[in-house]
Amino acid sequence: MKKLLLILFTGSGLIFLSFMQLSPSEQDSAYTKNSYVHDVLYDMGFPKPAWFPANYTEEDIRRGKEIVENGYTDDPSGGRSKYVSVYYVCTNCHNSVIEDPVLSNMDPEARLTYAIEKNLPFLQGTTFYGATNRETWYNDDYYKKYGDLVKPAKENIREAIQLCAMECSKGRPLLQWEEDVILAYYISISYKLSDILTDAEIAQLNADVAHPEKYADWITRIRGKYALKSPATFVEPPYEKGNSLPVGDPARGKAIYNLSCQHCHKAYGCSDNVFDDSGFTFKKFNRDFEKDYWWLFKAVRHGFYSYPGHEPYMPHYTAERMTDQQVMDLKSYFVQEAQ
Ligand code: HEC
Ligand code: HEC
Repeated sequence: MKKLLLILFTGSGLIFLSFMQLSPSEQDSAYTKNSYVHDVLYDMGFPKPAWFPANYTEEDIRRGKEIVENGYTDDPSGGRSKYVSVYYVCTNCHNSVIEDPVLSNMDPEARLTYAIEKNLPFLQGTTFYGATNRETWYNDDYYKKYGDLVKPAKENIREAIQLCAMECSKGRPLLQWEEDVILAYYISISYKLSDILTDAEIAQLNADVAHPEKYADWITRIRGKYALKSPATFVEPPYEKGNSLPVGDPARGKAIYNLSCQHCHKAYGCSDNVFDDSGFTFKKFNRDFEKDYWWLFKAVRHGFYSYPGHEPYMPHYTAERMTDQQVMDLKSYFVQEAQ
């Protein structure tokens, strides 16, 4: 490089030099804060899964984002694509930004604190941000809900997208191009190096590119920085615990009500049941508790199934998406507001 610059200086002068500075080949290959974590892993020899897209465009990303947020986009022939679901959009149940302050630990208490700070929805589905960095989907107890349908989805995010379009969203199968553009959007919101490494670590990573013997360590280190799957444990209401249930914090309960329940139960939300902030609503909740103490736990832990003629259902919260403490927080908020 030095020799080359010297030649340029003595030879063709400054015009060439500034050209060199615009496209320095060495910098092109260096990883930056904005490099995708996927790229580093695959460059270092981590096997690229079969579902990974060969190529995609900015247009694909835009269209994928529109399907996820609005339920439709412009189709390849220039018209408007059909709604994936007439009941839901994907973001009724999933965020598209980081929702766990420590990416390697999907802890609902830490997630709630972070959601309050950032004013983020607190939902049953896991965020799409980093979804393609996970290595399995529909994990653990989702087998109990969807049976053999989860088998292909477990190993292949394309199948997970299809499963959720049809089952979670009560929608239709996605066309190939729709699946492709959603995946392109997911890749665009996959982890970047700045999400998981400090500047000093990125510099070290760049230095180690020249040392293939260090690649295996880097792969382990990088994959240790985030959750490789979203764990899912189905739980029953804690009937047996009786009065030993945790004492609720009404301030956190209010946040859960606003960021979670009202995300769907607001006016014109995906549920017909509107939960507002009136004393009337909270008094009704309290009457429901009087009739059945476990009412709220059952709503959270079982969700609500759709009934004939009315497709929308309420997905339940797994242990990883809401704790028993948080259910009690919500209850204590209802009690406070009903006074
Ligand atoms: C009614 C709620 C709901 C809607 C609507 C919904 N999902 Fe989901 N989705 C879930 C739940 C619950 C899960 C299982 C928990 C989880 O995210 O891991 C899930 C899981 C997923 C997963 C696997 C996540 C993982 O890490 O295991 C993907 C991918 C996904 N959904 C894509 C979509 C797409 C694409 C749409 C829109 C077409 C959509 N979902 C609409 C509730 C929903
Ligand atoms: C992802 C969207 C979503 C979220 C989040 C959500 N719900 Fe629901 N909920 C629904 C849908 C859809 C129904 C089905 C009934 C309907 O469409 O009107 C429902 C039904 C219910 C019902 C039964 C209403 C009835 O009388 O039939 C209760 C109670 C309920 N939800 C409580 C809650 C509570 C408490 C929270 C927060 C912890 C919550 N929901 C969060 C979507 C949601």
